[in-house]
Amino acid sequence: ASELTAKVCALAPVIPVLVIDDASRAADLARALVAGGLPALEVTLRTPAALEAIAEMAQVQGGVVGAGTLLNEKDVEAAKAAGATFGVSPGFTRRLLDAAESNDLPMLPGTATPSEAMYLLQRGYSVAKFFPAEANGGVPVLKAWGAPLPQIRFCPTGGIGLSNAADYLALPNVACVGGSWVAPTAMVRSGDWDGITRLAAEAASLPCRA
Ligand code: 3PG
Repeated sequence: ASELTAKVCALAPVIPVLVIDDASRAADLARALVAGGLPALEVTLRTPAALEAIAEMAQVQGGVVGAGTLLNEKDVEAAKAAGATFGVSPGFTRRLLDAAESNDLPMLPGTATPSEAMYLLQRGYSVAKFFPAEANGGVPVLKAWGAPLPQIRFCPTGGIGLSNAADYLALPNVACVGGSWVAPTAMVRSGDWDGITRLAAEAASLPCRA
């Protein structure tokens, strides 16, 4: 499972974090992001439209659609049933990880401390989310974790944009970053797909070392 999430992170330097209000716009949004070079998409389960949006986006050629904000077993099952191929969570519980493993849903579980990273390593995870990245100390913290814990790589998320993404991506223990900046709500609502493709292309061209 860990290998699969590593593959998702290797697809592009940025995973768009998407909050979708209207599932009828989901496929167009996915096409716009994929066209710009960002195939891995995280749809957060924060809106009533999210599961339907995942089902719509899963049909889009070239897209790799995951579900974010997974909090419990029910979320894992619903995400899987909707067609998500990976899951993301702000933190983790043992029950959440058990559910993801028994449902064959590769996970990027959220971590904010070395103890959590150590627990995930023991469970066989080699990639995790670092959340909320900026508020938790950002680049210097991940750099410091890399010394004792080089075996685990991160997808930092939370407070990342075009201006600081490259600093994270330059770290050897950063596999990719996540962020909502590539799909601003106003552009999604107005259907500015060309604008979103441009933002995606800009993000896709960020240098990535890992
Ligand atoms: C989130 O959980 O909303 C993500 O971390 C996205 O954060 P961002 O909006 O700061 O990119």
